[in-house]
Amino acid sequence: MAILITGGAGYIGSHTCVRLIESGYDVVVIDNLDNSSAESLRRVEAIVGKKVPFYQNDVRDKDALRRIFTENRIDAVIHFAGLKAVGESAKIPVAYYDNNLISTLYLLEVMAEFDVKRLVFSSSATVYGLSKTMPLVEDMPLGAINPYGRTKYFIEEMLRDLYASDDGWSLALLRYFNPIGAHESGTIGENPRGIPNNLMPYISQVAVGRLPHLNVYGNDYDTVDGTGVRDYIHVVDLAEGHVKAVAWALEHTGCEPFNLGTGKGCSVLQLKDAFEQASGVKIPYVIAPRRPGDPDTVYADASKAKAVLGWEAQRDIAQMCVDTWRWQKNNPNGFES
Ligand code: NAD
Ligand code: UD1
Repeated sequence: MAILITGGAGYIGSHTCVRLIESGYDVVVIDNLDNSSAESLRRVEAIVGKKVPFYQNDVRDKDALRRIFTENRIDAVIHFAGLKAVGESAKIPVAYYDNNLISTLYLLEVMAEFDVKRLVFSSSATVYGLSKTMPLVEDMPLGAINPYGRTKYFIEEMLRDLYASDDGWSLALLRYFNPIGAHESGTIGENPRGIPNNLMPYISQVAVGRLPHLNVYGNDYDTVDGTGVRDYIHVVDLAEGHVKAVAWALEHTGCEPFNLGTGKGCSVLQLKDAFEQASGVKIPYVIAPRRPGDPDTVYADASKAKAVLGWEAQRDIAQMCVDTWRWQKNNPNGFES
């Protein structure tokens, strides 16, 4: 049973390849390496002790997609490939619409040509926009607030339209909360290009001395200590959610969104403290102005994924910090170390 993984060399894709292979699936990866390195796949191969068939192609290259479906018996697809930086998406929106929307359209066309109608899609909690009601539940109104978020929202709408037109499709829309952490081996993990936008990679780069201090974006939110609260989820839990979603997609038809989060909130300072505890390294910080567009609190109601997929996050914040630190300490410059 082979699963095509678009964006499989990336952060979440590489961890998902490991858990899929360990669960008995064959995987085939397509990635243009725009935001990743072939080294991550070499390390996936070292973890699982098996070669991972890899096509270094863009998902917007339909002929390459056709070649993959011809050369492999693909049963389902997990579509991670895409651009993901919120700030950048406001500066180069056309590149975001081009990459995220066109890649998905072409992928769906080629899947239909080869009669493969099972897809797990990387959506995001960002599709809920600035909802004030927490926890976030799948049937709440959607409304993205930046170009990146709108690409996810538009793709979700496209997939709902597709299912309405043909109920032979199986479409799992996974809305991730805040993925952090790394594989327990410390050999694969998040490897952002340039200065990280997200909190955890920023903290871990301060810890290894690549950055001088953490900027805490606002301490006057209506939260436990005034700093922003998020639902951080271990990337290996997320990977296991994909294994469950693939199993669901292979056995059912439908178009279903699922929140993948822990259901628990953690503030910026709580995460910093947990990281210090895990690493034994002090993280200097300064209070900076709020980052525009940041909500005070975001966390999931993850009960649908538990009820329907049989999935629930297992790893706590301490584990997320220990595993991030092992990866960052062993690879201070990421895969370039
Ligand atoms: P990532 O950048 O590490 O992985 C994405 C991979 O896709 C990269 O390896 C990149 O080279 C590849 N890629 C991009 N465009 C491509 C294209 N047109 N053709 C082929 N390959 C292409 O990102 P990630 O954190 O692993 O995220 C995976 C998916 O999950 C993305 O769709 C992202 O939007 C979504 N997501 C991520 C987060 C997060 O915090 N990491 C949160 C919510 C949703
Ligand atoms: C961001 C994206 C979101 C995306 C998610 C992926 C924005 C506005 N939102 O979410 O669309 O799905 O990443 O993980 O970019 N913080 C600091 N200092 C830092 C970095 C962050 O204090 O250097 C704070 C933020 O204000 C926030 C929390 O840490 O309260 C988490 O931030 P981040 O990791 O960027 O994630 P989100 O903003 O939740």
